[in-house]
Amino acid sequence: MKNVIPHNFKIGQEDRNGANGHNSFVLWFTGLSGSGKSTIANAVEQALFEQGVKTYLLDGDNVRSGINNDLTFSPEDRKENIRRIAEVGKLFVDAGVVVLAAFVSPYKNDRLNIENTIGSHSFVEIYVKTSIEECERRDVKGLYKKARSGEIKDFTGISAPYEAPDNPAIEIDTEKETVEASTARILSLIQDKLQLNHE
Ligand code: ADX
Repeated sequence: MKNVIPHNFKIGQEDRNGANGHNSFVLWFTGLSGSGKSTIANAVEQALFEQGVKTYLLDGDNVRSGINNDLTFSPEDRKENIRRIAEVGKLFVDAGVVVLAAFVSPYKNDRLNIENTIGSHSFVEIYVKTSIEECERRDVKGLYKKARSGEIKDFTGISAPYEAPDNPAIEIDTEKETVEASTARILSLIQDKLQLNHE
């Protein structure tokens, strides 16, 4: 941006990663509303926290009631939602924190932008692949019912698209796998990236 000159600070990500004893990056959970993103992200965070990893969870419902409470679910606003979260995620990564981000993030292009913002080495895409039928059957928040009746417009999977990732780092099938098993698979996937130093 014109006339904005970033300052080079003395303490950087590498220093913080060294002090924390692990690397920092973003685990990005994408999938339909009610697919189980938050549940799995929570379980992964808990397991990491117990290992002494510095973590932070960003999730659709809390971010949209705070920093992004000016945004709707139009394609443009979803894009802006994801753009801001990607920038926030990038700051957290710089701060040395493992970020768990759980957002529907239905558009491929928006997810590509996250990767470009954060850097592909710091971005792990996790596809929580629960079918629309199952999400609607669960209807934890009662939103599918409202979407069907037309009370909620542009609802992902009903009246707005969901573009599934072609090549996620990992796919979680919540209809076939327990939360514990999914959590274990994610933890093993990120072990090398994390380089947790147990001393
Ligand atoms: S995103 O599409 O912009 O990534 P985000 O993850 O922040 O969505 O928010 C999704 C959550 O908002 C859903 O889990 C659901 O609780 C709620 N929601 C409300 N209206 C909609 C809608 N039209 N489409 C999808 N989710 C909605």
